[in-house]
Amino acid sequence: MLQIGRLKLLTPLILAPMSGITSFPFRILNRQFGCECCFLEMLNARSFNYMSKRSLEIVKSYEDEKPLGVQLLGSEAYYILKALDKLSGYAFDILDFNAACPRPKITRRGEGASLLRTPVKLHNLLKSMVKESFVPVTVKIRLGWDSVSKAVDIALKLEDSGIDAIFVHGRTQVQGYSGLVDYKQIKNIKDRIKIPLIASGDIFTPKLAKKMFDETGCDGVLVARGALGNPWIFKEIQNFLNTGEISNRPDVEEIKRTIKMHLDLFINFYGEKVGVIKFRKFYIWYSRGFIKVKPLRLEVSGINTKEEMIVLIEQLDRLA
Ligand SMILES: Cc1cc2nc3c(=O)[nH]c(=O)nc-3n(C[C@H](O)[C@H](O)[C@H](O)COP(=O)(O)O)c2cc1C
Repeated sequence: MLQIGRLKLLTPLILAPMSGITSFPFRILNRQFGCECCFLEMLNARSFNYMSKRSLEIVKSYEDEKPLGVQLLGSEAYYILKALDKLSGYAFDILDFNAACPRPKITRRGEGASLLRTPVKLHNLLKSMVKESFVPVTVKIRLGWDSVSKAVDIALKLEDSGIDAIFVHGRTQVQGYSGLVDYKQIKNIKDRIKIPLIASGDIFTPKLAKKMFDETGCDGVLVARGALGNPWIFKEIQNFLNTGEISNRPDVEEIKRTIKMHLDLFINFYGEKVGVIKFRKFYIWYSRGFIKVKPLRLEVSGINTKEEMIVLIEQLDRLA
């Protein structure tokens, strides 16, 4: 069990916030495959205040889609608190604040991982969110800006704001998404803080998930890239943690059935034109592990209709 404030989860696995990925249809698919708690895509506090079309699309879900986490991005208390006020009209269970995004477009504005360079400012932002929020507040951080950052000090400062848990991606901003995950540093933070720590980084297989639990003592893990084209990962990790056994991987027919289900969810949500275009990258992820997929992957960039996409799905033939 994993507890974040008053939210109690039966499994210690959460679908990580992923911009451009964790949309409503993607979450629904993963929930059908055993994912208990999901994050929406990151929500820009300022754009949400202006009710931009994109931010309204991000917050779209069904009333009963629970438990659900919202992640806000921003750096100005004014917009963050106004966004919080607007969010009171939506049903969700965790309010996370993004201090982890490494993209220069974001950090140049003083947002995302850039806030790790000003922990006092970040602490104050979190403190005001804790005061105003009607659900548990969390923060997602990296291990600082670069290798000389003092990740433990930052985490302790943020814990002091009254937040209910901390998500830690075990890389620095400078590392981006490559380079080794620093398990030792995550453990150093876990050993010093009292609130739950949910770890992130390279949760690609059940064994890597267990390694994260074993080496850091974390209370939960975020599944991110490991879920791309792989909704089976949630049950597989859970099974491995419970029994030590590695589950059988899905066979070709099951994978094809799942891809078609995923495609239908996308088309129902976005309409055929946009849905198929947005689905192209998922086709590439699902095709990992199949033989002779290079020509199919090249072809997918020109696919525009459901019918054409189904033809391409049917051509996935044999797993390596
Ligand atoms: C396409 C993509 C989008 C992401 N968007 C966000 C985001 O909006 N907010 C966030 O906190 N992390 C975001 N992340 C980071 C993930 O939540 C996660 O921390 C990171 O990918 C490390 O986990 P992994 O190595 O298991 O993928 C994103 C990652 C990817 C690959």
